[in-house]
Amino acid sequence: MKGLFLTFEGPDGAGKTTQIELLKDYFQDRGMDVVITREPGGTKIGEKIRNVILDVENKEMDDICEALLYSASRAQLVKEVIIPNIEAGSVVICDRFVESSIVYQGYARGLGEDTISSINQIATRGLVPDAVFLLMISPEEGIRRKKGSGKLDRLEMEKIEFHNKVHEGYNRLEGRRKNIHKIDAQRDVQEIHNDILRVIENLLKREE
Ligand code: TYD
Repeated sequence: MKGLFLTFEGPDGAGKTTQIELLKDYFQDRGMDVVITREPGGTKIGEKIRNVILDVENKEMDDICEALLYSASRAQLVKEVIIPNIEAGSVVICDRFVESSIVYQGYARGLGEDTISSINQIATRGLVPDAVFLLMISPEEGIRRKKGSGKLDRLEMEKIEFHNKVHEGYNRLEGRRKNIHKIDAQRDVQEIHNDILRVIENLLKREE
């Protein structure tokens, strides 16, 4: 039996990590194998690429270089981790995936959705998540939450206009494809989790 592939998206500080952990417990309580991974990174090669991308010293990084590095990390992750685990029947949960590139590089950096989609078609080998959870918070709330949590990386240090564009970009994704589920993440953790479970239970019914 094939497993499930779920991704979490949203502006920095939206609370993806907390929700991913809760969802992991839900699947494990049902005796299902869960693999959690993150982007950029998730493999030995991907983590090296991550360090290059997020390094605050790399101020001169070209936008196209940035987009290709994210997709390079993704290509390795898809091949090494995501596809083999889905084929082994596990639930694979990924912290960010293609939609992050569409929003951050395509929209906020202005490279355009078509360019980013075509690069990613190659990187993902056409793999599409069963569900994409968009955790939405206001840009100000996102920055506030992140600032409280220590040092900022190169992307997080971008100006407020950049974060506003990220937010707008995610809003524009809503309703674009049936697998995208927008969740209001400025609520109680358990309420958010319950919304996510509703979607998962429908997916599991579909698989039966
Ligand atoms: P990370 O520390 O993983 O952020 P978060 O905890 O918010 O997920 O850093 C990843 C950063 O990279 C984040 O600012 C979003 C950005 N990003 C892109 O710009 N494009 C991408 O394709 C991905 C996967 C992430």
